[in-house]
Amino acid sequence: MQIQRNFPLKKYNTFGVQATSKLFASFSSADELISLLNTKENLPIMILGGGSNILFTKDFHGLLLKNDIGGIEIVSENAEYIYVKVGAGVQWHEFVMFCVNNNFAGVENLSLIPGNSGASPMQNIGAYGVEVKDVFFELESLHLKDKIVQKFSGDDCEFGYRESVFKKKYKNQFAILNVTYRLKKKPDFNISYGAIEAELQKMNVEKLTVKSISDAVIRIRTSKLPDPAIIGNAGSFFKNPVISKKLFEEKKMDQLNIPFYNTDEEHLKIPAGWLIEKCGWKGYRKNDAGCYDKQALVLVNYGNATGREIYDLSEEIKISVKEKYNIDLEREVNNL
Ligand code: EPU
Repeated sequence: MQIQRNFPLKKYNTFGVQATSKLFASFSSADELISLLNTKENLPIMILGGGSNILFTKDFHGLLLKNDIGGIEIVSENAEYIYVKVGAGVQWHEFVMFCVNNNFAGVENLSLIPGNSGASPMQNIGAYGVEVKDVFFELESLHLKDKIVQKFSGDDCEFGYRESVFKKKYKNQFAILNVTYRLKKKPDFNISYGAIEAELQKMNVEKLTVKSISDAVIRIRTSKLPDPAIIGNAGSFFKNPVISKKLFEEKKMDQLNIPFYNTDEEHLKIPAGWLIEKCGWKGYRKNDAGCYDKQALVLVNYGNATGREIYDLSEEIKISVKEKYNIDLEREVNNL
């Protein structure tokens, strides 16, 4: 809980970029967080989780507080569901493995996502047809100014595609302390995403289990996405753009052979990775900043890229997609 000065952040962000924080401390309970907040009333505060969704483009001139609240606890159960409360500082994948090992269903498609459990509702993490909102029950958070613990239900979080109230309306106002997830005792597998079915076939899986799906997802992710321990990255750098079907038709986008998925009656989602690849960026590298050669949606740091270089590359990509397809890409990764 000790406050440190001019603290280097390279190991605290999965991009592995260098930046410093004027002050830095970690906390492992709400009480520790409150006493840290009380000592530094007037400084800008930022809460850091696993550092897997942040790009530091400059130093932080405030107090950076690393959330290390641990603990995985079964809090209740009934015939259908089991409720598991997880400290915000627990690694997301550690929680997924806890569920897989106990045969609790619901998060197997979300295996191997980097970052901590506390960040999972913040950006409603998702992969292979499942989002955290599907298993979310409630969370406890601390209001950073009032220093009161406040509960949020799923409705309170206003989840959207990689969105929640914590990213916009309440940005930087709360620290998430713990999240309670509602897992299923009887699995209801979601293998609608083509790649999972294909991978299960390759693995010769005959009977679907929570474990076999988790294994398939891990195999797909490791084949396509760079391991941040080896090549710095923060997963998808941009969101997949959601546009109205009307606009898609008006602009005759079908004639450009742009792939798409229906999201609802009026909207469709376009894979940003496809747009970026078609603009020629896949595999591009300038100094140590690059666009990953197996998945164009992921920007990478091959070693010594600065946050600024990665940000500038993302800006060039945004501009070229806008010029070629007239589509605005929105960053998924937060930047400082
Ligand atoms: N594609 C390309 N070229 C590329 C990458 C993708 O053409 O270089 C096209 C292909 O048409 C492919 C389609 O994009 O069929 C979809 O690609 P993929 O299955 O890899 O998924 P994605 O849409 O690029 C999203 C999530 C990922 C998640 C995967 C799997 C977002 C922003 N990203 O990526 O999430 O793992 O689906 O469900 O929605 C993350 O958020 O950090 C993340 C990795």
